[in-house]
Amino acid sequence: MKQVYFLTPFPGMVKTVVSESILGRAEKKELVQFHTKNLFDFADPPHYRIDDYPFGGGAGMVLKPEPVFRAYDEVISELPENSDSRVIFPTPDGKVFDHDAALNLSRCQNLIFINGHYKGVDQRIRDELVTDEISIGDYVLTGGELPALVILDAAVRLIPGVLNSYESAESDSFAGELLDCPHYTRPESFRNLDSPPVLLSGNHKEIENWKKKQSEEKTKIRRPDLWKKYNKLEDGIKNYE
Ligand code: ADE
Repeated sequence: MKQVYFLTPFPGMVKTVVSESILGRAEKKELVQFHTKNLFDFADPPHYRIDDYPFGGGAGMVLKPEPVFRAYDEVISELPENSDSRVIFPTPDGKVFDHDAALNLSRCQNLIFINGHYKGVDQRIRDELVTDEISIGDYVLTGGELPALVILDAAVRLIPGVLNSYESAESDSFAGELLDCPHYTRPESFRNLDSPPVLLSGNHKEIENWKKKQSEEKTKIRRPDLWKKYNKLEDGIKNYE
């Protein structure tokens, strides 16, 4: 079973998310187990501070090394010896996250997320503990919990057995080269809005063609970068044939 740890000053933020929906179900199925370590529990008395002023001056506070190193040591003591662990630090200056990175993490035994707040974390944490510095996009959030949960969610749903039909993850946008096509369900007509008749035709070949065309149109308009890549790939297949 995959073990996932969050080192965070706000464990409540994490607990509510991982106990619900597909992540919660994955834990009940014993495919993954979630743990939180509250960084304040590893801070020194009497003030239990986990942040401090940056050396050299500048705006914002920096997460102190001691609580993070201590919490990390406790996590390592709870994990089986020599098990494969990745230590993830979500940060806007990290490598941008994508489907391949999610797949890679889904295949890893243990995940440990270090969640920074404040201006940043003491660089020694990044140098000594962190294996992966990951950004979820070019914008800045107030803390590491939300990006950590985004990364976790994307990885956990790719663990075989987490989704009811593994196939449904395989047909997602980015698993292939094209964006996903539109989907419809009952009722066939709703407030005068009809579902595309082809989807109700029972003609599987036509349905597949329609879905592919829709995906292609959407990709062409929204993601010229993916569209270019897809065309190169298709040309490659055509040349090979
Ligand atoms: N922390 C704050 N903003 C972030 C982002 N965009 N990605 C990852 N971690 C972050």
